[in-house]
Amino acid sequence: MEKHRVDVMIEEAAVNARIKELGEEISRDYAGKTVYLICILKGSVYFTCELAKRITVPVVMDFMQCSSYGAATKSSGVVKLSKDLDMAITGRDVIIIEDIIDSGRTLSHLKNLLGQRGPASLKICTLLDKPDRRVVDVDVEYTGFQIEDKFVVGYGLDYDQLYRNLPYIGVVEFE
Ligand code: IMP
Ligand code: MG
Repeated sequence: MEKHRVDVMIEEAAVNARIKELGEEISRDYAGKTVYLICILKGSVYFTCELAKRITVPVVMDFMQCSSYGAATKSSGVVKLSKDLDMAITGRDVIIIEDIIDSGRTLSHLKNLLGQRGPASLKICTLLDKPDRRVVDVDVEYTGFQIEDKFVVGYGLDYDQLYRNLPYIGVVEFE
């Protein structure tokens, strides 16, 4: 691991306030429906749980694991599915919950994959977006924060599996 430090980029209170707003927006948009939240392991676990707590319509949660990153901080471009959903999503109102959208490869792959299963609707909600890094175009309906092209950790995001448990968004500064 390179020598580095972690600085605060988005404070805990600001992250929580934004998640509350997203929860309210989703609750309004899905009034009268049951929403299926697809948590993309492992990075989205914290965000999915906090968001789910702020949604007032009925929520079903399921988990999927998919990776395009190894221990490095640059995307390999290879998306691997290592755990599929437990439940069928045919006819369901589905939202894929991601920690961050970077090149867009992971989400465009997942959206295609899940779209083939016949959901009634399929949207994407991401806590963070790095628009400058986009390689593949994807429609994202709910975004927490747009950030500059920096490597970030915390709130589920890791650097070599560390820092997921930070309650804020931190930026990794290499020394
Ligand atoms: P994409 O397929 O390039 O959009 O990559 C998305 C995945 O890359 C995310 O789910 C993260 O796991 C990882 N990732 C991208 N940027 C960062 C970052 O700044 N910190 C930690 N993980 C990141
Ligand atoms: Mg990830």
